[in-house]
Amino acid sequence: MTYANSRIPRSAQQDVHDKLVARVVKHRETMFRKPCTDYNRAALADALAGWDGAAPLILDAGCGVGHSTIALARAYPDHWVIGVDQSADRLNRRKPYPAALMPTNMVLVRADLVDFWRLLLEGGHRLARHYLLYPNPWPKIGHLGRRWHAHAVFPVIPRLGGVLECRTNWQVYIAEYACALSILTGRDVCWETFEATVPLTPFERKYRDSGQALYRAVVDLDAAP
Ligand SMILES: C[S@@+](CC[C@H](N)C(=O)[O-])C[C@H]1O[C@@H](n2cnc3c(N)ncnc32)[C@H](O)[C@@H]1O
Repeated sequence: MTYANSRIPRSAQQDVHDKLVARVVKHRETMFRKPCTDYNRAALADALAGWDGAAPLILDAGCGVGHSTIALARAYPDHWVIGVDQSADRLNRRKPYPAALMPTNMVLVRADLVDFWRLLLEGGHRLARHYLLYPNPWPKIGHLGRRWHAHAVFPVIPRLGGVLECRTNWQVYIAEYACALSILTGRDVCWETFEATVPLTPFERKYRDSGQALYRAVVDLDAAP
């Protein structure tokens, strides 16, 4: 049995990376110019094809197998919920409901978030809610730039607005994420531990069942600072 023995990311890094602040400030001051691919433009069109143009939007960024997208669509039936992942294999895995019982206010699309976020912004779209649930932690010290909050695309994320929530099982990740988001928004971004009584994603279930602490940061970007 190997299910409930998931490990907290092991890293030589025990605290916020000493290059994080400089990296975030650099990305804030520099235009991210990498062109978006046609493939990701088509993915955005697919993501919005079933939208009525009026329902508030929810983005489940890095949705994996999409269980959280389904749960969010059920919890917010008057919203249009978009689950995005780069892995076709994960997106295509069996769902917890037969097709006939799947919510109709959601869509799962394969795309690279690095482009998808920028295309949403370019299209003038605003999010009502935005989830980063258990993003890949990239725990090696030299992989700082692969963590979302140290990536060149990160300044786009708060500009999409809404209630933004990140969850992780690595304390260093949430501390860095909160620090980076504070720099970009000028707000105090707090993080906390929480109990996942009803796990929202398979990773959350696995970490909870392995007895790990879970961390989250929730910020309402549309509220007055
Ligand atoms: C650790 S998994 C978490 C999946 C899911 N949120 C969960 O909690 O079960 C991280 C997910 O992010 C996706 N991902 C990583 N980088 C991505 C990118 N640039 N664009 C889209 N998806 C990405 C991966 O394919 C993977 O499914």
